[in-house]
Amino acid sequence: ITGDAAKGEKVFRKCMACHAVGADAANKVGPELNGIIGREAAAVAEFEYSDALVAKAGEGLVWTPESLAAFLEKPRDYVKGTKMSFAGLRKEDERADVIAYLAQFDAE
Ligand code: HEM
Repeated sequence: ITGDAAKGEKVFRKCMACHAVGADAANKVGPELNGIIGREAAAVAEFEYSDALVAKAGEGLVWTPESLAAFLEKPRDYVKGTKMSFAGLRKEDERADVIAYLAQFDAE
């Protein structure tokens, strides 16, 4: 993990309409992201994922710093048919920083 978690907290503002992390994080428009690094894709049982992301999980997609960076750059290219309506983080440093921020939150 090469990013700056403090900067990543600010980047995460772009995600907060749809995602929560930390104690008592709940699913919103998107699933809660506690413990996302190392988590299998589409693994929150109570969340209704797209068929597209479920299919990627079936192919073995696990969220690593590398796969997260690729997804967050262009979500709809990395998972064709995803229901995450977010254009992506164009800047590499923003991607690295938000990943460093997310890495602070273990699965509750
Ligand atoms: C899925 C991260 C922005 C809605 C995901 C997943 C990650 C993620 C890692 C996969 C979760 C899993 O497999 O359990 C982020 C980050 C964001 C961001 C870091 C900001 C940089 C957004 C925004 C929205 C959104 C703004 C809503 C407009 C969703 C939805 C899914 C999802 C609906 C499920 C996708 C599917 O089932 O295909 N997000 N997200 N996300 N996110 Fe985001």
